[in-house]
Amino acid sequence: MKLLTPSAGTPVSFADILRGCTSSFNQSITAFESVIKAYTQKNYCYFTNSGTTAFYIILKALKTVSKRTEVILPAYTAPSLILPIKKAGLKPVLCDISLKTFNMDVQSLEKCINKNTLCIVPVHMFGLPMNMEDVMQIARQNSLIVVEDAASSLGTTIHGRPTGVFGDIGFYSFNRGKNLSTLSGGCIVTDREEMASAIKTECALLPELGFISKLKIATKLIALALAVRPFFYTIFNDLISKLKYTALHTDFDSFAYTRFQAGIGCALFGQVAKVLNKRYDHGTFLFDMLAHMKGIRLPALLPHAVPVFNQFPVLFENETVKENCFEKINSAGIESTKLYPDPIHRVYNLGYNLDKDPFPNATYFSRRLLLIPTHPMMNIEKLSIIINIIKNGLGE
Ligand SMILES: Cc1ncc(COP(=O)(O)O)c(C=O)c1O
Repeated sequence: MKLLTPSAGTPVSFADILRGCTSSFNQSITAFESVIKAYTQKNYCYFTNSGTTAFYIILKALKTVSKRTEVILPAYTAPSLILPIKKAGLKPVLCDISLKTFNMDVQSLEKCINKNTLCIVPVHMFGLPMNMEDVMQIARQNSLIVVEDAASSLGTTIHGRPTGVFGDIGFYSFNRGKNLSTLSGGCIVTDREEMASAIKTECALLPELGFISKLKIATKLIALALAVRPFFYTIFNDLISKLKYTALHTDFDSFAYTRFQAGIGCALFGQVAKVLNKRYDHGTFLFDMLAHMKGIRLPALLPHAVPVFNQFPVLFENETVKENCFEKINSAGIESTKLYPDPIHRVYNLGYNLDKDPFPNATYFSRRLLLIPTHPMMNIEKLSIIINIIKNGLGE
């Protein structure tokens, strides 16, 4: 039987789950809060049930301190970021991405700013560090708030400081597939007292889940801990495929983070360096082996940054070559992904005229991107199989 390696997965051991169970009866939220505060060196930290809710809470809090309504974000990122913006009664404004850095393009960002701009949302996609110095400078010049999306970049550092701490407010996701996963979850960090107070008020309104719903989360977390391991992933692949989201999200649930998950978060954080180092090593290996190949582009990395790759992005010049490599990598038993196959302006109708593409880089990028897993269940042997497939696909 050929074992399948999933595209995303951060292992949770039964010892971690046991620690989560025992700590769920005491101060696990406060403990996890202390861990995140120590990691980020931020004064305030708040938990939510997801990164999406974290973003929503931030936006609702910002509405209480400003009358401005526009939120600028890159046209290529998690499309679900549009939902909290709309739900908060604000207007998403997209800017293009850079085909060099694979993140928000700062020149395009500057063109979007006007007197209605409330905040800028730089996203460290796939764990790739965005140049926060540039973003902060633009924001300060225009008196704008920066909400830093570090949902998929936990562990990535710039000048030795973790992503998520450079903006006025930062947020993380602990969803499945993230660098630290408690099945779901989100977290907000800030030093800005007035914003923290508004965020705290919004968080206090989040409903607590009932006992049955909490039990369901615990059961799913245990199932996920097993499911991401290649042996179980292979056996239950048909079932798991059915459970994966395929439909476009139109709304999201918001509720309080559970103590059980916070307990597991604490346990996982204690050994997160091992996971982050593996992701870094796998990304660096892929970078070194692929960098010289013609027909693909890799992201230009920010100096003084250590990128912890959530997944490793490879941009193909030729879409057919990309499709062929995707098929072959998956046939070799390793799941690569094509997330997201469309940029945001082609997923949600935000009123842009698509006849002349307003964000051509984002469209080009989404059609030619292949993501390679970097999680700890990958190894040099599996990465070498992928490298060879890409090499042969490019006719090298
Ligand atoms: C860049 C980015 N921001 C935000 C989110 C939302 O986080 P969550 O899935 O926890 O709601 C995601 C999730 O995939 C993401 O990748």
